Amino acid sequence: PNKETSPLYVLHDKAMQFYHHMLVNTEVGQAALTYLHDRGLTDELIEEFQIGFAPPQREFLERIFEKEAASREDLLNSGLFIERDDGRLLDRFYQRIMFPIRNSSGRTIAFSGRWFELSDEKSDQAKYLNSPETPIFNKRMVLFNLDKAKSSIRKDGTVYLFEGFMDVIAAFKTGLESGVASMGTSLTNQQIQQLERVATNLVFCYDGDDAGQQATARGLELLREHSRLNLSVVRLGNKLDPDEFIQANGADAFRQLVEHEQQTPFSFTADFLAKQYNLQNEKERVTYLELVLKELATVDSLIEQDQYVSQLAERFQLQRTTLTQQVQLYQREHK
Ligand code: CTP
Ligand code: MN
Ligand code: MN
Ligand code: MN
Ligand code: MN
Repeated sequence: PNKETSPLYVLHDKAMQFYHHMLVNTEVGQAALTYLHDRGLTDELIEEFQIGFAPPQREFLERIFEKEAASREDLLNSGLFIERDDGRLLDRFYQRIMFPIRNSSGRTIAFSGRWFELSDEKSDQAKYLNSPETPIFNKRMVLFNLDKAKSSIRKDGTVYLFEGFMDVIAAFKTGLESGVASMGTSLTNQQIQQLERVATNLVFCYDGDDAGQQATARGLELLREHSRLNLSVVRLGNKLDPDEFIQANGADAFRQLVEHEQQTPFSFTADFLAKQYNLQNEKERVTYLELVLKELATVDSLIEQDQYVSQLAERFQLQRTTLTQQVQLYQREHK
């Protein structure tokens, strides 16, 4: 049904070009450009992702489109403007670094804008602002960078899932081109379906902070239930996100980690649970062990089960047979 003939695509292309022009060619965008360079974004990357800058004045796009004979209805439908009480249109995005969001065929259909502080004064603006839902943009359907990543994902059937745009772009810089990100929410069924069309393996590369690890735990649960993807997890540790990890440790260290330090979902969950209990305390230790064994009971690989039973037996000075029996008990309960 979507032939991409809507005038809204044209408005988005134009907006993208203007924002990009402001960032790379004008004085107005200079500070934001320097900021991006300092964060390790090269001119090539800024070009590749058509990153831009929306100036602080809220009548920038509005003036440009005035000359373009776009209908008022299209402007309002585009989500790029806000209507004032007196009927005037104001730019929705201002003083933000602009990341174009493309659909799976590569058309720009929305933006995400990162607030850019121009003085030392702290403002209370949200860090990221996304386009609202429009006739061409349904947040639940879109994964950032899937259009570019698709061919690379198909090569080995593996997609890497990140939290943020900056992470996808930083990974791209290291040569990892199979990265996508959801729009600041957990994955929807529509997004999962799109991923299953191109991938058989999915690797979580979420932020190393608590929020990121929580989101990984939830994501694993969700995908285990709603997809047939083989799952694994890259943990960055040190509370870093992938972009920060790459800045701190370099591209090679990141690729090394991604290629050689993937955890199984179970192993991730066991570590994740361990952080939530005081294992020196007898009662908490029992609770922890019960939860881990319950989780282990859902693991299909007998080898992985056996490995972990051995580890637990040694670490907590327990009989292997006790642990194995407990796992079998949970398996029977589960059925
Ligand atoms: N996000 C959002 N609104 C916010 C904060 C975050 O929509 N106020 C979404 C964005 O899609 C963002 C992702 O959640 O990319 C991850 O958030 P966070 O880790 O806080 O941002 P980073 O991607 O690390 O951004 P940066 O490095 O620029 O600070
Ligand atoms: Mn350019
Ligand atoms: Mn985060
Ligand atoms: Mn982050
Ligand atoms: Mn970050």
